[in-house]
Amino acid sequence: MAEPVLEVEGLVKHYPLTRGVLFRKQIGSVKAVDGVDFTLGRGETLGIVGESGCGKSTVAKLLCHLERPTAGAIRYRGEDITKLSGKALKAVRRNIQMVFQDPYTSLNPRMTVGDIVGEPYEIHPEAAPKGDRRRRVRELLDVVGLDPEYVNRYPHQFSGGQRQRIGIARGLALRPEIIVADEPVSALDVSVQAQVINLMDRLQAEFELSYVFIAHDLSIVRHISDRVAVMYLGRIVETGTDTEIYDHPTHPYTQALLSAVPVPDPDARERRERIILSGDVPSPADIPSGCRFRTRCFKARERCALEVPALAVPAEFRYATGPAVHDSACLFAEELRVVPAEEHGNGPG
Ligand SMILES: Nc1ncnc2c1ncn2[C@@H]1O[C@H](COP(=O)(O)OP(=O)(O)OP(=O)(O)O)[C@@H](O)[C@H]1O
Ligand code: SF4
Ligand SMILES: [Mg+2]
Repeated sequence: MAEPVLEVEGLVKHYPLTRGVLFRKQIGSVKAVDGVDFTLGRGETLGIVGESGCGKSTVAKLLCHLERPTAGAIRYRGEDITKLSGKALKAVRRNIQMVFQDPYTSLNPRMTVGDIVGEPYEIHPEAAPKGDRRRRVRELLDVVGLDPEYVNRYPHQFSGGQRQRIGIARGLALRPEIIVADEPVSALDVSVQAQVINLMDRLQAEFELSYVFIAHDLSIVRHISDRVAVMYLGRIVETGTDTEIYDHPTHPYTQALLSAVPVPDPDARERRERIILSGDVPSPADIPSGCRFRTRCFKARERCALEVPALAVPAEFRYATGPAVHDSACLFAEELRVVPAEEHGNGPG
């Protein structure tokens, strides 16, 4: 594995649930992120997928220091950034930038594109001398495939895909090492999604970037990810290389998600196993005992309510080799090829 740039250990974010106006009393907590571990290698893309509300955006905000964790460590090049403040924190924050989901609301409609892309230099003036910023902004627009002459236009004069390019140019302004992209293409048309993903691919090679790429759609993540982490109710339940996760999933939740990925070929669709998840996602304020997926799992047994499965290579695979051997938080993990080989929706691009 590549040299790690980010190591996340035991990351937790609980939001207090309170009642009462005068005497606010904590009656519980929303366990948005509830013990997440992963490593991001240099130049690598880690895809994080999971249903709405599983804690993806909260992880993104914690990584970019927009939120403080309840517990856990985020080590950037070996240093725990959750412990930093002041100048030291500011220096680190430069290197970890975020690209947001919605290019319609994440850009200030009253600012010109030039001011939006150049805004990071106001916060980090040391990054570029004042006299050089305009030139750099034009260069950034060019890099993301926009005409530098557009520098004085406003966001409403651009299409959704162009606006996301502006968001990416802003993310690149400080020459970060890591970009955390929270559903960067989810709000875009499928044809435009492919263009933006291809752009991100190119920029990754050009600027030696490491990506955390968040999506709720497994097919989008596959195209860009080296490794994938599947989240459920605040935790990662399965993680591995793209081949391990897409072709050899061992966790019932991943298998269910994969069985819902659109398959363009009608024959393959026929042969594909469909797994319907029962019930709704439980509230993150009231997480089931034992395995948190058990209330919706098609394989759940009594033991699942009593034991919390660890995210590790399952015991039955310990002496095995091959792509089924990867971390999976299930007590009864077994390989299930949900989508016929080579025929799953590879998403855009
Ligand atoms: N500031 C907050 N206060 C209380 N609860 C919060 C707060 N922010 C998020 N949550 C809750 O934490 C859980 C995780 O939210 P989060 O936004 O991280 O999910 P997500 O995976 O990004 O979902 P989506 O796919 O819809 O964007 C949700 O139940 C959400 O309601
Ligand atoms: S531990 Fe049990 S409930 Fe959880 S995923 Fe495995 S089989 Fe399902
Ligand atoms: Mg989100």
